[in-house]
Amino acid sequence: WVLMKTAQTPTNIAVIKYWGKRDESLILPVNDSISVTLDPAHLCTTTTVAVSPVFQQDRMWLNGKEISLSGGRFQSCLREIRRRASEVEDKEKGVKIEKKDWEKLHVHIASYNNFPTAAGLASSAAGFACLVFALAKLMNVKEDESQLSAIARQGSGSACRSLFGGFVKWIMGKEEDGSDSVAVQLVDEKHWDDLFIVIAVVSSRQKETSSTSGMRESVETSLLLQHRAKEVVPKRILKMEEAIKNHSFESFAQLTCADSNQFHAVCLDTCPPIFYMNDTSHRIISYVEKWNRSEGSPVAYTFDAGPNAVLIARNRKAAAQLLQRLLFYFPPKSDIDLDSYVIGDKSI
Ligand code: DP6
Repeated sequence: WVLMKTAQTPTNIAVIKYWGKRDESLILPVNDSISVTLDPAHLCTTTTVAVSPVFQQDRMWLNGKEISLSGGRFQSCLREIRRRASEVEDKEKGVKIEKKDWEKLHVHIASYNNFPTAAGLASSAAGFACLVFALAKLMNVKEDESQLSAIARQGSGSACRSLFGGFVKWIMGKEEDGSDSVAVQLVDEKHWDDLFIVIAVVSSRQKETSSTSGMRESVETSLLLQHRAKEVVPKRILKMEEAIKNHSFESFAQLTCADSNQFHAVCLDTCPPIFYMNDTSHRIISYVEKWNRSEGSPVAYTFDAGPNAVLIARNRKAAAQLLQRLLFYFPPKSDIDLDSYVIGDKSI
């Protein structure tokens, strides 16, 4: 017999960034962060997990290619889920798995991204969130999404925010064991569903410095990171929560841009400095800043650990205007591919 479960999880984009860990192995951050979860139709991971007595070892395939599960992060997620597994019964197949049996049974995992893994578009966030969610369903784990987020967090920090739709806060927590470092939903996807997200793929090359090693170097060498974590982010988080609650797009855009810029300033303040954005990214920032000062509707921009721009417009009309201008300013012969992704079920 084989028992299977499939889950689908979207990726998320941080508007207040997570950058820096206070505990590397448990993945505990130095500050709270806030993100928006994308519509699963656009950027998501689909994962099928299966268990069978004939499986000899845990194995995983990513986009059809087998990958190693020996990394500590996969092992942490698998261990934590197995520890919380409960009895499963499938009467049709005549299968009963007792809680204690889960320790001996092996799983096979097949995961697909509907976007290029190498594009640096937060694929690990959707990937680990989906893995944990699918395994939890298979092994009948009774915990809620926030508790599962603490497990996904141990796969990749940003993954903990992908277990919810809408706007999500990852609370850094205080406990040494990480039990209070969990994600919570601030508002669901319907609260602000006229927002439009446009992703300008500036380069689909894999980033040179991974987030994990980049943030390690920043924690070790950047004084700006200490100031950001202690003085700047706590106040910004409160303002961002207000802006989201009140649909205050001007404030939302201002905070989002400022936080992205400070995150990249921390990267520059790292020794040796880390450059995630390139000339095209800088040109996009200059363009959007100019646009925001001269045109009617402002647009927010944010960049993760790579050169691709995530642009957030107030609504469909503002996104269409922006896209039209961007295509004019960055004509297709240049090194930019434009595509659009949305929150909610509308597309542009
Ligand atoms: C810039 O979650 O990829 O996207 O926890 O080491 O796996 P690890 O890092 P990761 O870092 C994401 C960093 C970021 C900002 C964010 O998503 O908050």
